[in-house]
This record gives sequence, structure tokens and C-alpha cells, in this order.
Amino acid sequence: MRKHVVLITGAAGEMGQALVARLAAEGQSLLALDVNPLPEEMRARAQVSMSGDILDERLLSRLVTEFEIPLVYHLAAVLSTRAEYSPEAAHHVNVDGTLALLRLAAEQGSWLGHPVTFVFPSSIAAYGLPDLQTKARAGAVKEHEWNVPTTMYGCNKLYCEHLGHYYARYYRQLAQGPTETHVDFRSIRFPGLISAFTLPTGGTSDYAPEMLHQAAQGRPYACFVREDTRIPFMAMPDAVDALVRLQQAPRESLTADVYNITSFSPTAGELRDRCVRAFPGAQVTFEPDLKRQAIVDSWPADLDDSRARRDWGFRPAFDEARAFDDYLVPNIRARYQA
Ligand code: SER
Repeated sequence: MRKHVVLITGAAGEMGQALVARLAAEGQSLLALDVNPLPEEMRARAQVSMSGDILDERLLSRLVTEFEIPLVYHLAAVLSTRAEYSPEAAHHVNVDGTLALLRLAAEQGSWLGHPVTFVFPSSIAAYGLPDLQTKARAGAVKEHEWNVPTTMYGCNKLYCEHLGHYYARYYRQLAQGPTETHVDFRSIRFPGLISAFTLPTGGTSDYAPEMLHQAAQGRPYACFVREDTRIPFMAMPDAVDALVRLQQAPRESLTADVYNITSFSPTAGELRDRCVRAFPGAQVTFEPDLKRQAIVDSWPADLDDSRARRDWGFRPAFDEARAFDDYLVPNIRARYQA
């Protein structure tokens, strides 16, 4: 008998670590996979921990011989800044890696006789606003608007949403007999995420968590975007909760495959003010990197998440004040005082 597990790729990443902690606390059997070694406490939380590359076909075939996988959280990705240093390599991980996982899910679904749920984090990077005037006019963008990303990461995420849609509805559509559904694809376009316990690697919304964690350590921080830069953010517990909620939503209540969610949209200057209030003496300066600035300027200032609120009851627990006062500041303070 094969063991029954929930597969989490990118398990050692920011979102992966938070999701593993959440699902392990609920008693779920987890297969945590990451290209980087998994931290010790994660190994204790997952039934099985593996270091390996999602592009390694032999590794993926071994997984399906050993495990029954009714649910996949495919979180592994190369984020937006890092992807620009090696766009083709990023495409390989972000697109070919997702394709390999979708194929694995389709095969599993066919074996199990019911669709495998495939949860996929997409991003605000899937949007591309051409200039600041348009960004100001656009306000809270809806899922179908401005789908013209300017980064490799954004192109990859947008395309993978389409791949998921294809696997869920049209995979092998010319095969004999009725087209069967083996994958139940569900995706969230996340805003920038801020965790109290981890830092991102290689993203372009990283200025927010970097500023806060540096301030808490009494270190100066030179923010790489202008003070008036505005994009949406969310506290990590709300992001993880959203993944789980969307996974658990009854299929019939979902009217789409892809959902915006958001919580608050501060400017970088407003973030600085919060850091200074929480950590008096924090030294934050603004030294825009024009290239990274252009990426953030192409992302919306706000997202319309009414579809997620209506279909599966999305509602963030942390607005800006609660995120800082109840989650980020106390936990970050404790972390660096320890
Ligand atoms: N936080 C991500 C990044 O900055 C966007 O999804 O790349």
C-alpha cells in the first residue's frame, strides 16, 4: 500500500514553512519537498522530507510509486527579482516545474479515480500596468484586467494559471470517450507577503519585510523603491489561511480558477512610519533602484478581491494595524531580543 500524503513543493520557502506548520498542527501527513535542505523543525513536522529538484523526473516518478497524493500545494518558484538575473533558468523552474507537477497530479487523479486538488500560488506580478498614471487610474484591479506582465516571473505565473486551467478541463481532450477531469486546479494571486518569522529571497516586494526586520535589529535600511510606492500586502498567516480555505471550498461554489486576494496597501513611506513607531530610532532611507522600481510600479496599487470574498468567504484577519500591532511587531521583537 502506498502512503497517503499531501505534497508541498517549495516547502523550505517562506510560504512553505508557514503552510507546513499549519497543516502539521492539523495532523495532516505531509511530504515536504524542496531543492534546499529543510530546517530541522520542519523535518519533525512532515511525515517525509525530501531535498530534491522538481525538474528531476526520476525523483517525481519515485514519489508516485511510494505515495498516494490526493492534494498538491505547488509553491516552488524563482521569485521576480532573482528570475531577471537568469530568465531562462527561472522559466525552466517556474513553468517546466509546474508542468511536471500538473502531469503528476493528472496521473495521480487517474489512478485514484477522483481529481487531485492542485493549489497554486500566483502573484500580483501577473499584472503589468504601463505607467504610474494608469496605475493610479486603475485602482483595485480585477482578475481579467492588465494581464500583461513585465517580468519573467509574472509571465510564468500567468501562463501556469492557464496551464492549470487546461489540465483541469481540456487535458488530452481528443482521447476516446468522455474527457475526464483528473486535476482540480485552484489558484490565488497573492500580494506581497510579510512574515514575522522568515524573510523572502529574491522577490521585488521584499522591501517591506526587509525594512521591518532590519529596523527591529537596529540596522539601517536603504529602501530600493521611492517613498510614494504603493502595492498591496498581506500578513503571512492570512496568506496560508487563504490557501487552506480555497483548498477546502466546495468545487461547486467556485466560479473561477484564479482569485485575487489582498489586505492592505501602504506606501513605502507609510511602512517606514510604522517601523519608526514600533522601533524608535529605526533608520530608513530611500535609495530607489530604478530597475526594481519599474517592476513595482508595474504592479497594481490595489486588488479587487470581491470574487474570493463571494465564492469562498475570503476575509483577512489582519488589516494593516492588526498585522503590525498584533502579529509582526511583537513576534519580530521577540525574535531579535532572544
Ligand atoms: N513577492 C513576489 C515577488 O516580489 C511577488 O509575488 O517576487
